[in-house]
Amino acid sequence: MAKSNNKTDQKTVRQPMPAKEKPEQRSATEEQHFQKRFEKHMDELRWLYMELYDNGDMYAELIEQCKAFYKERNNELKALDLSREKNPGWYKQNDMLGMMLYIDNFAGNLKGVQEKLDYLVKSNVNYIHLMPFLDTTEGKSDGGYAVSDFRKVQEKLGTMEDLEQLTMACHKKDMSVCCDFVMNHTSADHDWAKKARSGDGEYMSRYFFYDNAEIPNQYERTVPQVFPATAPGNFTWLEDAHHYVMTSFYPYQWDLNYRNPRVFNEMIYNFLYLANRGIDIIRIDAVPYIWKELGTNCRNLPQVHTIVRMMRMISEIVCPGVLLLGEVVMEPERVVPYFGTIEKPECHMLYNVTTMATTWHTVATRDVKLLKQQLDIINALPKEYVFLNYLRCHDDIGWGLDYDMLAKDGMLEIPHKKYLNDYFLGIAGDSNSRGELYNYDPVTQDARFCGTTASLCGIEKAGFEGDEQAMEKAIDLDIMLHAYMFMQSGIPILYSGDEIGQVNDYTYKEDVHKREDSRYLHRGAMNWDNAKKVADSQSVEGRLYHRLQTLLKLRKSHPAFVSNADAWTLPTYEQGVLCMGRYYDGEKILGIFNFSEYNKTAWIHETDGEYVDLITGNKMTASGVNVPGYGFYWLRLEYDVVDQGKE
Ligand code: GLC
Repeated sequence: MAKSNNKTDQKTVRQPMPAKEKPEQRSATEEQHFQKRFEKHMDELRWLYMELYDNGDMYAELIEQCKAFYKERNNELKALDLSREKNPGWYKQNDMLGMMLYIDNFAGNLKGVQEKLDYLVKSNVNYIHLMPFLDTTEGKSDGGYAVSDFRKVQEKLGTMEDLEQLTMACHKKDMSVCCDFVMNHTSADHDWAKKARSGDGEYMSRYFFYDNAEIPNQYERTVPQVFPATAPGNFTWLEDAHHYVMTSFYPYQWDLNYRNPRVFNEMIYNFLYLANRGIDIIRIDAVPYIWKELGTNCRNLPQVHTIVRMMRMISEIVCPGVLLLGEVVMEPERVVPYFGTIEKPECHMLYNVTTMATTWHTVATRDVKLLKQQLDIINALPKEYVFLNYLRCHDDIGWGLDYDMLAKDGMLEIPHKKYLNDYFLGIAGDSNSRGELYNYDPVTQDARFCGTTASLCGIEKAGFEGDEQAMEKAIDLDIMLHAYMFMQSGIPILYSGDEIGQVNDYTYKEDVHKREDSRYLHRGAMNWDNAKKVADSQSVEGRLYHRLQTLLKLRKSHPAFVSNADAWTLPTYEQGVLCMGRYYDGEKILGIFNFSEYNKTAWIHETDGEYVDLITGNKMTASGVNVPGYGFYWLRLEYDVVDQGKE
């Protein structure tokens, strides 16, 4: 949402049109807005569309519908669009803090979330990601990522009106709302899928249907598996329809065929429909998978980028206040192209997935070398690129690390992944973590990992064993990781419950629909009784919550934390200690983070002046800094020796 201290923006939002303007004048100006935006993009949009589909009628229909969705968009949203167009960096400020939450886990339903907005505001959150809430079939939902109706809210969560009420209420509090747009597939219970299943050719052509195994087998030769253990293979045989259908994810998630312009057009209409409900950030789910080509791995194909670029242009024409967040869980060289180029941008924001995985590798190895390299890669990218930084999300941690680099230090992929999994299972490397494997593949011996931040940091184990000393360490690790994450360039996102150190929830094992999918381990319901304990500053929840809030408040009040500040790393000559620097508008901050449980010294030597530790207010020199086990500093350069000399 717009930077909260930007008064002009707020004014624009609340007064969508000048008082004396007549309705017909207003619609004439509105028409002009649309036309101006359309003219900016029409050549490129038409070019890309025709290149992909060579279908002028469908293109004309698309533009007509864009106009219709623009017309339908309400005045408040249109005003927000205008103010964001004037301030395109609105989401790059240092006050941004996201939280992702499941509506039912967090507050029962959409109305419940609205009632909890004050808690979120108090927790410094100004952007919420509502996990999938569209209609889906219980037991065949993949956590809501198998959508059976893109225009209907799951009954247990409420209605579209509730969603609109919620987005409006959020906007009043300067809070943005993000939702998923699951565009790679529909549920097998979606209307199109039902018609396709019954043999209707028009609908079969919206998916990938084959009446024999020949082509599916050819695909299987080159396409990796997403869920090798829980849903092996990329196709599902439909006994009743006597056809194979492509299902890259679960058998009830049918891949859409974007070669068919009807699919593209209709999905864009669904996208615009959601945008018009007041959604500010649209997370395009599993986007690398949306284009399939025999003989390839069906990931990140050039047509995917054409589609995302078209989506970007369409949203800039119809709803320019809306941001695209790409879910690209891939290696870094595949992730960055989803930003597009500066002239032809695709996504506004992407997840910093490799940094996240590398962070947990660093916890398990107490060696910051790879993390430092990873941060250097990110820091070298154009500052326009905005990453979403996070420690945990609703998915597993995939060990997508730079194994070529690790091999140089003797860490080979298979044994290293095994070490990481063993570490987080709590059975190797002096670990206090608790968690579970995800999709263990006996053939490749590959597995990913599940668990909440708190459990991976040792809070669950220490609590269970009543070990106060271990608890102290676990909380320190948890806070240090957040402090380091808040210092990365971009937008930090918390996973709901992390602010109070919520631990793993094992009850999913009792649910037949969930027990095969260990991601539910970290998808437990928010424990509001525990949340109340933050009032007690001695409780685990209180200690975590208040320390986190202190960091968040500092982050908001220091310009060096803005997304486009200069950012760099410094060598510390100490394996377990990471040092990051940030500079913006005269302010310099150094972050020093000890990833080991032992006291260490960061052998840095910054002689530019005296520093102050932002947390304690103590004056310090940034030279040979002693850092307690799992401790950290945020040091701000108080005055410059050179400047002082001048006075
Ligand atoms: C994304 C989601 C994940 C889901 C998958 C299939 O990766 O984050 O939870 O299983 O898409 O839609």
